[in-house]
Amino acid sequence: MTELHLPVSLNRTIELLAPSIEGKEHPVVVDGTLGLAGHSLALLERFPHLTIIGIDRDSEAIEHASKRLSSYSSRVRIYHDTYDNLRGILGNFGTEYVDGILLDLGVSSLQLDSDDRGFSYSRESALDMRMNRSRGLTAAEVLATYSESDLSRILREFGEERFAKKIAQAIVAERELSPITSSNRLVELIKQVIPAPARRLGGNPAKRTFQALRIEVNGELSILERALPIALERLAVGGRMVVLSFQSLEDKIVKRAFVEATAKRTPRGLPVDLPGMESKFALVFNGSEKASESEILINPRATSVRIRAIERVAA
Ligand SMILES: C[S@@+](CC[C@H](N)C(=O)[O-])C[C@H]1O[C@@H](n2cnc3c(N)ncnc32)[C@H](O)[C@@H]1O
Repeated sequence: MTELHLPVSLNRTIELLAPSIEGKEHPVVVDGTLGLAGHSLALLERFPHLTIIGIDRDSEAIEHASKRLSSYSSRVRIYHDTYDNLRGILGNFGTEYVDGILLDLGVSSLQLDSDDRGFSYSRESALDMRMNRSRGLTAAEVLATYSESDLSRILREFGEERFAKKIAQAIVAERELSPITSSNRLVELIKQVIPAPARRLGGNPAKRTFQALRIEVNGELSILERALPIALERLAVGGRMVVLSFQSLEDKIVKRAFVEATAKRTPRGLPVDLPGMESKFALVFNGSEKASESEILINPRATSVRIRAIERVAA
């Protein structure tokens, strides 16, 4: 499993973080989505003086990453937590500011390829979808307990699903017969509901419903929204944050947070920046970047990545 996993946009991520690491005596980078530690391992190999604070909410990921990073254990601290708890984690680690922060959002191949976690619409599995299996409702429990209007809302908002209402109606009718607990049963149900012409377009028709359920089960967007200002506040001057997003909802949140952080604080209409009112942050490049065609060829997961990067330029 570990060997099969190719970290997305690895070289570009290292290149973007390098200026915030090189030239520092004891640089510290937070990998807020440690996963199988592909990015962290490469960073530790490339920068012999770097310390990584690795965070993941998934205990299986923590186990794999810990093994994979064992030869670097003196330069790694791993936390089983969500990345929005950065203040608490940095307090525990004993630092206020860090030189780099990486978020590689979404699901890991460990989660996606697992036969009992329910993240994938293309393999039969119990509908769990919790990244932290000790907390919160499973996807099957969401399907069993949410009202039709709440189901419709999450499918529309988190899945951008045109047929949200129809799918929600079908889920409520189907669960009257028996609980919907398996991925295949949910996929079949969605296929029956989505009209044939729409089914032929846009990939697997269950993709958007699975995305919506995963986001709901894990509170993914609210955590991201809460975490970004905290992360930016904890970047040292010269420090950089790099975010890899895999769907437009999370990329929009990142874009908004970065635009707000880089906006000048001088009141509009004044011809010059007032002292102390300049922005503390600058975009490393405008907008977002995609993976190269050559990367997508060897790693299809890179197809949807959008990379954004920001630097702290003033205290
Ligand atoms: C795409 S994978 C990261 C892969 C990693 N960069 C690598 O190279 O192996 C995303 C990981 O982030 C974790 N994750 C997602 N949301 C999280 C959150 N809010 N807090 C902590 N970890 C999170 C998931 O459990 C998953 O292991």
